Amino acid sequence: MIIDSINQKFVQVFGHQKSMAFCSPGRINLIGEHTDYNGGFVFPGAIDKNIAVRIAQNNTNEINVYSINYDAAVNFILREDDLPESIWAKYVFGVCMEMKKAGVAVRGFNAVFFGDIPLGSGLSSSAAMNCVFAFALNQLFEGNLSKMELAKIGQQAEHNYGGVQCGIMDQFASLFGKKDHLMRLDCKTLEYEYYPFQPNGYKLLLLNSNVKHQLASSAYNQRRQSCESVVAALQKRYPEVSLLRDATLDMIAEVRAEVGEEAYKRAAYVLDENNRVMQTCQALIDNDYELVGRLMYETHNGLSKQYEVSCEEMDFLVEQAQACGVTGARMMGGGFGGCTINLVQENMAAHFIEQTSSAFQSKFGHTPPLYEVCVSDGSRQID
Ligand code: GLA
Repeated sequence: MIIDSINQKFVQVFGHQKSMAFCSPGRINLIGEHTDYNGGFVFPGAIDKNIAVRIAQNNTNEINVYSINYDAAVNFILREDDLPESIWAKYVFGVCMEMKKAGVAVRGFNAVFFGDIPLGSGLSSSAAMNCVFAFALNQLFEGNLSKMELAKIGQQAEHNYGGVQCGIMDQFASLFGKKDHLMRLDCKTLEYEYYPFQPNGYKLLLLNSNVKHQLASSAYNQRRQSCESVVAALQKRYPEVSLLRDATLDMIAEVRAEVGEEAYKRAAYVLDENNRVMQTCQALIDNDYELVGRLMYETHNGLSKQYEVSCEEMDFLVEQAQACGVTGARMMGGGFGGCTINLVQENMAAHFIEQTSSAFQSKFGHTPPLYEVCVSDGSRQID
């Protein structure tokens, strides 16, 4: 249990002190990929894999953090020239700085954290990390910030210290998650709605391609820029369009020559994907998992061919799923590696896993790690 680990390590590193403990989960996203930074809809849920932190004020200006995952400690004060080297420590530093910017009186603290979210697998371990620290510091220093404000702080920390111009989906999902519910978030208005999600007779299985692309951050930022270039072109004709979400397929067809084929293709994907989220929500209300599954395959096709953020390994996993008769499968998250999400009929799961693992092993030389996930609660105090 991750809570036992942080409890023991905290005492070992800092001795007995009055402290609190918090956790924040990773996320899945059923559908709605690369729509968030375009002001569109997403449909994520939190999972039963978390990052947990034990934390105490230390009445100094120093911040001491120990990571069990990396078996490493950092120590810094809150000045830009004291930015730590390692990426995980940059995130902690970034969250502290963004909390300060938001007016929270962050001072020195001691913390130990540990997580069971597979790192770099598209399950948003970095968002969970930002969220657990934002949530903890808000309690520790009585920040009184709302969960949505904390999500924005987590997102800003990613922009300014992680180098990814991400949307708000991952931080939102980690903070707002609710057991057995997915959430439809309107990323323009930030209104959201919980949808009961207990797919009787189905399992949600994640298969990890184990690909971690070096250039993932810059490629992600480029996709965002392409979308913004289409919005800039549209604004000359339609000043009311401030995000791709406000546009229609007819509108983007008008600027096709101006923005070029690649940017047009990206934008067309985003508009289609936004529609698929709405269709999926209705399909869930109708209990029509076959339709949910078909829409997931369509999303994968769009991500692979139009948005071009998939990779050979993930395409292969999805093809295998389809060949085995899996209800729905697609790559999930930002792309360029990470996991596929599979909506699999229970009675078919064993066959699918066996078949796909061995085919993947023959082609790529290793078996893809498998995670069965449950949709679970979001950030919370655990002690
Ligand atoms: C990453 C980002 C999210 C979102 C997804 C793609 O997970 O952090 O904001 O854009 O990619 O849907």
